[in-house]
Amino acid sequence: MENKRFTKLDVVSGKSYFLCQCGRSEKYPLCDGSHKDTSFSPEKYLATADFSISVCGCNDYKTAVCDCA
Ligand code: FES
Repeated sequence: MENKRFTKLDVVSGKSYFLCQCGRSEKYPLCDGSHKDTSFSPEKYLATADFSISVCGCNDYKTAVCDCA
Protein backbone atom coordinates (compact mmCIF):
# COMPACT_ATOMS: atom_id res chain seq x y z
CA MET A 1 0.00 0.00 0.00
CA GLU A 2 1.23 3.41 -0.93
CA ASN A 3 1.33 6.10 1.75
CA LYS A 4 -0.07 9.35 0.38
CA ARG A 5 -1.08 12.55 2.14
CA PHE A 6 -4.21 13.69 0.38
CA THR A 7 -5.41 14.21 -3.16
CA LYS A 8 -7.80 16.93 -4.31
CA LEU A 9 -10.91 15.82 -6.17
CA ASP A 10 -13.46 18.13 -7.77
CA VAL A 11 -16.98 16.83 -7.08
CA VAL A 12 -20.43 17.69 -8.39
CA SER A 13 -23.43 18.07 -6.06
CA GLY A 14 -25.69 15.02 -5.98
CA LYS A 15 -23.14 12.71 -7.62
CA SER A 16 -21.67 9.65 -5.86
CA TYR A 17 -17.96 8.80 -5.94
CA PHE A 18 -16.19 5.58 -4.94
CA LEU A 19 -12.97 6.56 -3.19
CA CYS A 20 -9.99 4.22 -3.23
CA GLN A 21 -8.96 2.87 0.17
CA CYS A 22 -6.27 0.43 -0.94
CA GLY A 23 -3.88 2.89 -2.65
CA ARG A 24 -3.53 0.65 -5.75
CA SER A 25 -5.88 2.48 -8.12
CA GLU A 26 -4.44 3.87 -11.34
CA LYS A 27 -7.24 6.46 -11.12
CA TYR A 28 -6.48 7.43 -7.48
CA PRO A 29 -8.32 8.89 -5.59
CA LEU A 30 -11.12 7.04 -7.40
CA CYS A 31 -11.47 3.24 -7.19
CA ASP A 32 -10.69 1.33 -10.40
CA GLY A 33 -11.28 -2.19 -9.03
CA SER A 34 -7.61 -2.88 -8.25
CA HIS A 35 -8.54 -3.71 -4.64
CA LYS A 36 -9.93 -7.12 -5.67
CA ASP A 37 -7.20 -9.22 -3.99
CA THR A 38 -6.96 -7.03 -0.89
CA SER A 39 -9.07 -6.67 2.25
CA PHE A 40 -9.99 -3.11 1.23
CA SER A 41 -13.12 -1.83 -0.44
CA PRO A 42 -13.92 1.64 -1.76
CA GLU A 43 -15.81 4.18 0.33
CA LYS A 44 -18.86 5.74 -1.26
CA TYR A 45 -18.97 9.51 -1.03
CA LEU A 46 -22.06 11.54 -1.96
CA ALA A 47 -21.23 15.13 -2.87
CA THR A 48 -23.54 17.67 -1.25
CA ALA A 49 -22.16 20.64 -3.19
CA ASP A 50 -19.97 21.52 -6.17
CA PHE A 51 -16.54 21.86 -4.59
CA SER A 52 -13.18 20.24 -4.10
CA ILE A 53 -12.58 17.57 -1.45
CA SER A 54 -9.30 16.28 -0.03
CA VAL A 55 -9.24 12.49 -0.18
CA CYS A 56 -7.25 11.16 2.76
CA GLY A 57 -4.26 8.94 2.06
CA CYS A 58 -2.44 8.93 5.39
CA ASN A 59 -3.42 5.33 6.26
CA ASP A 60 -5.64 6.54 9.08
CA TYR A 61 -8.81 5.28 7.37
CA LYS A 62 -11.14 6.82 9.94
CA THR A 63 -12.52 8.81 7.05
CA ALA A 64 -11.93 8.90 3.31
CA VAL A 65 -12.15 12.67 3.24
CA CYS A 66 -9.14 14.28 4.91
CA ASP A 67 -9.74 16.14 8.16
CA CYS A 68 -6.06 16.79 8.94
CA ALA A 69 -6.12 20.46 8.02
S1 FES B 1 -8.90 0.36 -6.24
FE1 FES B 1 -8.49 0.92 -4.18
S2 FES B 1 -10.38 0.55 -3.17
FE2 FES B 1 -10.75 0.01 -5.20
